[in-house]
Amino acid sequence: MPDRKPYVGGNWKMNTTSDSSTSLARGVCEACEAAQGAVDVVVFPPSPYLIGVASIFKSRPSAIRVGAQDLYHEAEGAFTGEVSVGMGADCGCEHALAGHSERRHVIGESDELINAKVKAMLAGGLTCVLCVGELLEEREAGKTNEVNERQLRTGLADVGLRQMENVVIAYEPVWAIGTGKTASPEDAQAAHEFIRGLLVELYNDDVANRTRIIYGGSVKPSNAATLFAQPDIDGGLIGGASLKVDDFAAIVKAASGA
Ligand code: 13P
Repeated sequence: MPDRKPYVGGNWKMNTTSDSSTSLARGVCEACEAAQGAVDVVVFPPSPYLIGVASIFKSRPSAIRVGAQDLYHEAEGAFTGEVSVGMGADCGCEHALAGHSERRHVIGESDELINAKVKAMLAGGLTCVLCVGELLEEREAGKTNEVNERQLRTGLADVGLRQMENVVIAYEPVWAIGTGKTASPEDAQAAHEFIRGLLVELYNDDVANRTRIIYGGSVKPSNAATLFAQPDIDGGLIGGASLKVDDFAAIVKAASGA
């Protein structure tokens, strides 16, 4: 991974309780201690547990950061059920996901809404992890690059060159999420290479070389090292395995190259 610090995110999705989120955070803190300097480690708990989890990492001290799974682009007002970027930051978030496939395909978010969220997260000083990825039928129809290109072009519309310092791209093929089916290292590398090439076109070589592009979709301790060894894969966004301390720590260790 030339000059790019690996990034490993633990997306806890709609799992854990108040108690189990803090004990998971404590476990991650201890188990990932050795690799923390070499890898950016970020956990994304459900929003009601952000404050509790952030307080665990603050009290250690720890280099692990806390992120939100989603934040709304409007600053405040009549948006029942939503959580603003400012509220996320106030709860201890320094990172946030935008455009996760479950937000796109289960909740129904559009590329345009995702772009509004990306811009609000960046304007609010957060690191934004923009998630992209194709459905199985899109892959089978040979549309993988087309879908990723559309999601990236729209997701990054009006995001300036300097702001790209705070953007991480997560390539998560939808058919590999929570299914146990991982993209082969070659297929994942091909998608990452395509995305990096698009960043050259949208920005320049420097931005493309510096932006972390991480892979998500059934990453496990058994496949993490091979995926992370690919030249354009700079870490991972981990779902199921991030709920198990030992598995998550093994994946973080694989990203550190240790
Ligand atoms: P799994 O690791 O459970 O496949 O989930 C991946 C993911 O969606 C991370 O955001």
